[in-house]
Amino acid sequence: MTPAVPFLDLSAAHEPITEEIVLAWRQILTTSSFIGGSYVEGFEQEWAAYCQVSSAVGVANGTDALVLALRGLGVGPGDEVVLPANTFVATAEAVVLAGAVPRFVDVDPHTLLLTKTQVEGAVTDRTAAVIAVHLFGQMCDMDALAEVCRRSGLALIEDAAQAHGATWRGRRAGSAGDVGCFSFYPGKNLGALGDGGAVVTDDAALAERIRSLADHGRRIGAKYVHDVVGTNSRLDNMQAAALQIKLPHLDGWNAARRTAMRWYAEELQGLDADLVGIAPQAESVHHLAAVLVPQRVEVAAVLAGEGVASGVHYPIPCHRQVAYARYATHDLPVCEDAAARLLSLPLFPTITREQVGRVGEALRAALPAEVRRAS
Ligand SMILES: Cc1ncc(COP(=O)(O)O)c(C=O)c1O
Repeated sequence: MTPAVPFLDLSAAHEPITEEIVLAWRQILTTSSFIGGSYVEGFEQEWAAYCQVSSAVGVANGTDALVLALRGLGVGPGDEVVLPANTFVATAEAVVLAGAVPRFVDVDPHTLLLTKTQVEGAVTDRTAAVIAVHLFGQMCDMDALAEVCRRSGLALIEDAAQAHGATWRGRRAGSAGDVGCFSFYPGKNLGALGDGGAVVTDDAALAERIRSLADHGRRIGAKYVHDVVGTNSRLDNMQAAALQIKLPHLDGWNAARRTAMRWYAEELQGLDADLVGIAPQAESVHHLAAVLVPQRVEVAAVLAGEGVASGVHYPIPCHRQVAYARYATHDLPVCEDAAARLLSLPLFPTITREQVGRVGEALRAALPAEVRRAS
């Protein structure tokens, strides 16, 4: 049965642009320009401009964007990469796929984001890069992270898979580090109609290396000449067309998410359910409406009974995952506590005030009086 308030509903946002996408796809079918083509080029240019950088390279997905960024920067075997443990597993996966060792660190208890202090505590003489994960739609403190990376000679990579259009003191996600990595998984703030991703940078030579790596290590401009071992990770023309058509709507969709988060703040007043904090320098694009609640499993069950879907991002921090436990060096109490208490509430651009009100009602039913905060 479909819940009264779904976790994510993209159909209403897609409805007004469906015809335009179908027309573009019909044109691609007519010209058979499936790989590469004018939509890929057009979207790459527009995405670079949107992200306030000079180059964007379309790739197959966000995980590949991270692997290719690491490889393009020359990070690989023998290197360590510092990253927060509370991220989607793809961030850690990319480090291992690139041949490097992930060094998991804890995060700020207010924003749940990577901090300069955590990075400083993890840097060794093998550290080559830091991945700043802009989780839930909010950018990390990029001034502080850039400063520590500069001082220690480390590359700064942004995992901006959840932060399309977010800013830190006015600078867009993807433009504040050496290289920014995006996922266009359908549920992202800017989502393709399938898989997609992009790497953005102001370093033209790095962009060219990444473009070549993503295209079988092909020498740019040559057909069957391969200078490096690459892979096949191209953004296809069908996805690029959908992304190009959706891009002009991104700011409006992000603004609608912001409005919905204000409604959530009203609904959560007096409840023991804290929205993850936002730093004053950050403008979040609220990819997820994450709250910290006690007894998460019980609360989610009551919500489900009231017709409200919810999610958990993420229930197990990377250093506690079987696949990555060998890289765990110490406890990470903030990540571990958050993993036990995080709950993601329904959020999408067309969510209504009434739907958010229903979520609030369900939360009031879920959080019994004794765990409600004394007001
Ligand atoms: C923070 C983060 N990093 C990386 C990824 C990987 O992106 P993709 O699923 O497109 O490979 C995602 C999304 O799934 C993500 O949320």
